Amino acid sequence: MRPKVNINTLHTKINAGEKITMLTCYDYPMALLEEKAGIDIVLVGDSMAMTVMGEETTLGMDLDTMVTHAKAVRKGSPSSFLVGDMPYMTYQISKKEAIRNASRFMAEAGCDAVKIEGGANMADTVEAMVKATIPVMGHLGLTPQSMAQLGGLKSQGRDCAGALRIIEDAKILEEAGISLLLLEAIPPEVGKIVAERANIPVIGIGAGPHVHGQLMIVHDMLGFFDAFTPKFVKKYVDLNSIILEALNGYKDDVVGQQYPDTCHHYNFINGEREKLLEKIENKQ
Ligand code: KIV
Repeated sequence: MRPKVNINTLHTKINAGEKITMLTCYDYPMALLEEKAGIDIVLVGDSMAMTVMGEETTLGMDLDTMVTHAKAVRKGSPSSFLVGDMPYMTYQISKKEAIRNASRFMAEAGCDAVKIEGGANMADTVEAMVKATIPVMGHLGLTPQSMAQLGGLKSQGRDCAGALRIIEDAKILEEAGISLLLLEAIPPEVGKIVAERANIPVIGIGAGPHVHGQLMIVHDMLGFFDAFTPKFVKKYVDLNSIILEALNGYKDDVVGQQYPDTCHHYNFINGEREKLLEKIENKQ
């Protein structure tokens, strides 16, 4: 197993000019594969509400579910830098609640950091969490938990004022103590400016090539979620078709009595079958 990825590993990669890899993950089997692939940062994202639970937004996700899944992901991926995504209204109400809720990702699930959405409005909360020993990843640009205010899941920072706000928010969050920053669905130039000015790893999901690393939602890149496909998604496989073919094959085999075959049978221990048949016959 590779050495555990920690914040220093990520800085070393940046200093060596190496890009950081990050993927979402929601369960143990996928975590095993992401571990094998050597993904640096694994995010247990509240996007699970949509990709796994079939919800239309991330807003209904609850903390218990997130912590349970983060635990499973940690078991499958012991060496990655694991980030737990704090669900809607688990950190916005008070600093005390934010710390208490974030501590569950750290203590129960073994996360290395938690992610929260928001800019200057979250600076005090970030400061309080960091003081309480919780490493925080910031998230700017398209922040899905604010979709009602943003008017939907829309790209951000595409006008001068919006871009400046992201650049300024990034600085404020870094000063407040975030350890990493995620930028979502913004122009590459904005990603470049933020990454160049930052002293922390800046990861992008639809933020262009100049940031320190890339994130994708694993269900998107595997072709395992097709309710909608954001512009930044690159599909590496069409898992939906592959799985559907297998499901249809199984159905056809059962209906056509091709499954189970003799190789799938549990046979009697030597001589026991004959014993049983004899007993049954004698009773009749
Ligand atoms: O929940 C998640 O997976 C995320 C990404 C969309 C950035 O926050």
